[in-house]
Amino acid sequence: MSANFIDIADYKTKQLNDILFVAHQIKSGLISPTPLLNKTIAMIFEKSSTRTRISFEVGIKQLGGTPLVLTSNDMQLSRGETIGDTARVMSRYVDAVMIRAQSHKTLLEFKENSEIPIINGLTNVSHPCQIMADIMTIQENFNCIEGLNISWFGDSNNVLKSWIDAATKFKFNLRIASPKGYQPNQKLIKMATDSGAQINLYEDSHKAALDADVLITDVWISMGDEEGTRLKDLKPYQVNSKLFELAHSDAIFLHCLPAIRGNEVTEDVIDGPQSKVIEEAENRLHTQKAILCHLFNYKIK
Ligand code: CP
Ligand code: NVA
Repeated sequence: MSANFIDIADYKTKQLNDILFVAHQIKSGLISPTPLLNKTIAMIFEKSSTRTRISFEVGIKQLGGTPLVLTSNDMQLSRGETIGDTARVMSRYVDAVMIRAQSHKTLLEFKENSEIPIINGLTNVSHPCQIMADIMTIQENFNCIEGLNISWFGDSNNVLKSWIDAATKFKFNLRIASPKGYQPNQKLIKMATDSGAQINLYEDSHKAALDADVLITDVWISMGDEEGTRLKDLKPYQVNSKLFELAHSDAIFLHCLPAIRGNEVTEDVIDGPQSKVIEEAENRLHTQKAILCHLFNYKIK
């Protein structure tokens, strides 16, 4: 069976640290690996994307490979061809597939039927590539992630799920501030804390912001979500300058983007000096190149 990059939880801390090390080496120009020479990497998008699509496409080219961008609407998938047949056929044409799927089940079914590496480019459940870039950005700002207070505000979505996975692998304190009805699945939190994660849940966002090193939020309506009463319910969890004042003076702000200014974050915070969102987006490129290096057995000499 080939190696895949489906979830942070599937990986050992050492493997994640090795991938991050390669990402830092690539970014600083110390190495320029080309493990994808003569290889084609396909990407299937069932949802929109700016960062994931561009960073993978550029990264694959920089690694010597050929990217192939596909939207599920243009494929026979949209006319009912099975995921299994699609995965088996694509395994004979290309060398790996990155999928951004509506449903995590689709990703897993694709993986089960593939003979080549499969990468999770976001599903309704998780977004592991994003969290690798976020951790890299945190390491750049604080040198390490261990012991930091990392505070999440708002909806318990796919990006937070990957942060919870990361909390089982790296020794930081994950604080989650969200209202009733938007809190993470209790079973998931129990499983994570049973495997050593330090996670605290708050209803009061001020408590989660106190002495925080990293403040993170994401859109209140993720792709595929109904608006319902989300905007009203999540309003008290906005990351604004008042909340930021409670954090450590050198705290940074992260957001995977795209952001809605005035909803989950105010303009002064996301466009302010402590926001690292553009570096974070840049780091998608370096970490994904490092993930591809890992999947194609690149070793630093
Ligand atoms: N953060 C992120 O995955 O962005 P895109 O949806 O633009 O790919
Ligand atoms: N939670 C967001 C992330 C977008 C990159 C979504 O799924 O829409």
